Amino acid sequence: MRIGTPLSDTAVRVMLLGAGELGKEVAIELQRLGVEVIAVDRYPNAPAMQVAHRSHVIPMTDPQVLNGVIMAEAPHIIVPEIEAIATEVLVAIEAAGLATVIPTARATQLTMNREGIRRLAAEELGLPTSPYAFVESAAELAEAAHRIGLPVFVKPVMSSSGKGQSMIEAIEDADEAWAYAQSGGRVETARVIVEGRIDFDFEITLLTVRSMRVPDQVRGDDDAVRTDFCAPIGHRQVKGDYVESWQPQAMTPKALAAAQTIAGKVTDALGGLGVFGVELFVKGDEVWFSEVSPRPHDTGLVTLATQTMSEFALHARAILGLPVDVSQRDVGASAVIYGGIEATGIAFEGVAEALAVPTADLRLFGKPESYERRRMGVATARGATVDEARERARDAASRVRPTAA
Ligand SMILES: Nc1ncnc2c1ncn2[C@@H]1O[C@H](COP(=O)(O)OP(=O)(O)O)[C@@H](O)[C@H]1O
Ligand SMILES: [Mg+2]
Repeated sequence: MRIGTPLSDTAVRVMLLGAGELGKEVAIELQRLGVEVIAVDRYPNAPAMQVAHRSHVIPMTDPQVLNGVIMAEAPHIIVPEIEAIATEVLVAIEAAGLATVIPTARATQLTMNREGIRRLAAEELGLPTSPYAFVESAAELAEAAHRIGLPVFVKPVMSSSGKGQSMIEAIEDADEAWAYAQSGGRVETARVIVEGRIDFDFEITLLTVRSMRVPDQVRGDDDAVRTDFCAPIGHRQVKGDYVESWQPQAMTPKALAAAQTIAGKVTDALGGLGVFGVELFVKGDEVWFSEVSPRPHDTGLVTLATQTMSEFALHARAILGLPVDVSQRDVGASAVIYGGIEATGIAFEGVAEALAVPTADLRLFGKPESYERRRMGVATARGATVDEARERARDAASRVRPTAA
């Protein structure tokens, strides 16, 4: 792909479907490479819209409206940032050769539904996962929980960020978990996954990048896709939402090899170009596949502080067919800054104090509305050790206080 001039006939146009904090960083990286960026989301002034050439506010789950915007903008590349998209439109656009969908339309379809990706990973690829069942009623849920063995995780098949998700330790709690899953699902589907708990030592995100190999005339290599792995990212989740992450997560050479093998298989099967966030559970030398995002991962915000190229720069490069460098430069950590209050147009107190923490940096996402558990920013820091970096990132994050205007 030849990069032209934004806002001219030679422009390479990239459309972001979802314009949150991850999309904002991708947009900035694309802007640096002279790409024309169009941001789309369901609410105005979303983070990536603030750094895009143009933006559109539409319900992205409405196929007709989504198709209309894509036709009007005629992007060369479409980059989904979230799962709640009418993915059938992307399948049609890709089939008609109208745009490249990142990584592929099929990958966005498979990963938007826990059932699609779990069946691919466990049943087609034979990867180790937690034991699981799909159920459609509270009674089926109780039966599956009994069969799999308690405790179990209960999740709507169409959901993310812990929404509608719970863990039950007694069969009596099946009804409540069922009702909660129904309330948290993204769409009107009664389908729920029941997963046996993996008693892991820690969980990681293995950022995996598929990029174009630069042809080597001397060796006679032709164009082909290569796969690279970033250093493993450890993270801590509270109620299904990430609160802090660090890189690298120490693990045994055997576990790292197993993690890379699993990530290689699942990303090969999904295909296309770009960054994937492969979520894995680790116990000793043993590794289980949990889920995968076919895009930069929230826990990967730490790479802004640690890698030669952040996961966002890697994504921008990879989707444009350009070479990548996944090397880690520093040990580091990230800590989330939550809204803590319900208000619009909040102000951040304590920014100077936060940035006075050695090596600390901040991203304030610029979301127009704050709620209690909404991620409004992130602090990153480096350190001689992971513990030092985590301490600094948490300290910096805690100094930032969102306040009502
Ligand atoms: N089967 C499981 N065993 C142990 N922990 C789990 C299991 N499933 C989910 N979890 C915990 O819940 C978190 C969120 O689950 P996940 O399936 O990744 O949902 P989401 O799509 O909302 O991120 C995981 O990162 C992990 O900490
Ligand atoms: Mg997850």
